[in-house]
Amino acid sequence: MIDAFAIASPFLRLLDAETAHCATVAALKALPPRTPAPDDPRLAVSAFGLDFRNPIGLAAGFDKNAEVADAMLGFGFGFVEVGTLTPRAQPGNPRPRAFRLVDDRAVINRYGFNNDGHAAALARLSKRARRGIVGVNIGANKDSDDRIADYVAGVDAFADVASYFTINVSSPNTPGLRDLQEPEALSELLARVIEARDAAPIRRPVLLKIAPDLTFAQLDGVVRVAREKRIDGMIVSNTTISRPATLRSLLAKESGGLSGAPLFDLSTRMLAQVFLRVEGQFPLIGVGGVDSSEAARAKIEAGATLVQLYSALVYDGPALIARIKRGLIEFVDRSKEPLAARIGKSAPALCRSA
Ligand code: FNR
Repeated sequence: MIDAFAIASPFLRLLDAETAHCATVAALKALPPRTPAPDDPRLAVSAFGLDFRNPIGLAAGFDKNAEVADAMLGFGFGFVEVGTLTPRAQPGNPRPRAFRLVDDRAVINRYGFNNDGHAAALARLSKRARRGIVGVNIGANKDSDDRIADYVAGVDAFADVASYFTINVSSPNTPGLRDLQEPEALSELLARVIEARDAAPIRRPVLLKIAPDLTFAQLDGVVRVAREKRIDGMIVSNTTISRPATLRSLLAKESGGLSGAPLFDLSTRMLAQVFLRVEGQFPLIGVGGVDSSEAARAKIEAGATLVQLYSALVYDGPALIARIKRGLIEFVDRSKEPLAARIGKSAPALCRSA
């Protein structure tokens, strides 16, 4: 097969990051639908009552408006998460607001939930044939008077079409949003979201996506509330507002959330911390800096049942997905253990070294 990404990549690199992304989404919308090649059955995973053909998912933020979920499933992802979607369409922050840190294989973004709003995304998702798992990541409008009501509106709007929901309280680009990770606010948010979910005709799993910048004391509170409210899973993690000292690119000074390779260590250690606190009550999705089968495996060993990625696609293109899956199968062959048997194996060691 011709690697269209390899051909387009030098041209896309000439564009600023957001324009390149828009061009990519436009091209994906124009592509004829592809049926993904079958996956090796050893990659199949069950979690939150859903059967995933493989554990590698597309993280939120790539398909903010639910325009190309099927195209991305066609590249071989086991699941795709669309959004973050807010009730009303909003423009987000002024441009430029996305930056490639090429020397660091990283991205900084401060989009601020630019999106078309619930109605437009719902119309697109309703038209899908609904093969393949598509989660809907929901958030609050920047100028909302009642942020919790915005999340409830998301559950109400997408209950028919979302394979699962992600409650995004961890974007650094909407002022005050991450305060919803504080126990009292989180408790109210999750109670109201779960109530809305339980009132809908189909019971959809509800996952909570957290920041990698929480202190361990804050994390204790988040996991305690998540367990009390009996949510179905957590996603660890969103982008970081920290800037590791190893960053080389001059763009590292841009404000916003950092993702990609420099996020790997921080988000994987956070994942291990969450794994130990959750004690198997619900599964976890590991995200942050996954760019190889070794990195995906490290997420699983730190506690992830499923893995997501975004930034590595910017640098490696969609061929990366097949590479990661091949590497995971080789690992299963070598270790003579199913992937599920490796979940959380390195978590205690990772936590000791923190
Ligand atoms: C994101 N991410 C993100 N997350 C989310 O929950 N809602 C969103 O709207 C976005 N938007 C977004 C835009 C861009 C340009 C990037 C790079 C990332 C975060 C993303 O889902 C993921 O958690 C992090 O990027 C870490 O994974 P990677 O990119 O290191 O694989």
